[in-house]
Amino acid sequence: MTSGTKDLDALAIAAQQLAHAPYSKFHVGAAIEMSNGQRFSGANIENASYGLAICAERTAIFAAVLAGAKQLAQVSVCSDSSPPASPCGACRQVLLEFSPDPTAVTVVSINPKGERRSWTLAQLIPDGFTGKELP
Ligand code: THU
Repeated sequence: MTSGTKDLDALAIAAQQLAHAPYSKFHVGAAIEMSNGQRFSGANIENASYGLAICAERTAIFAAVLAGAKQLAQVSVCSDSSPPASPCGACRQVLLEFSPDPTAVTVVSINPKGERRSWTLAQLIPDGFTGKELP
């Protein structure tokens, strides 16, 4: 868990520095706040076997789950992309798993230039698979 009073965007900017992205050179940091107020950071971690890379958003949400926090409230993602990048489809699906009400989860994407885009998770993954259909 990351503690302290820095806001979520500042945590995402700090996490970007921790990215391991020697192959794509696209460094991404993420910070999430859970509904219990706990905050967690993540960064993308790539591998020489390219397909094993994992995104910043997923390292953050997995850290939260491993700490026992399973209800997502907010997400901030930082990359150097201009305009700020929107989260990949795999991350949208994984974030959805921990969002009982995706209309209430704000996802913000920023870059170090101060540009900013935001959505709700429901906008990013409308009608997503939630497991309701599973036996
Ligand atoms: N990446 C993220 O960390 N988050 C996203 O939402 C999109 C992509 C990472 C994965 C890979 O390490 C690099 O960016 C290029 O795709």
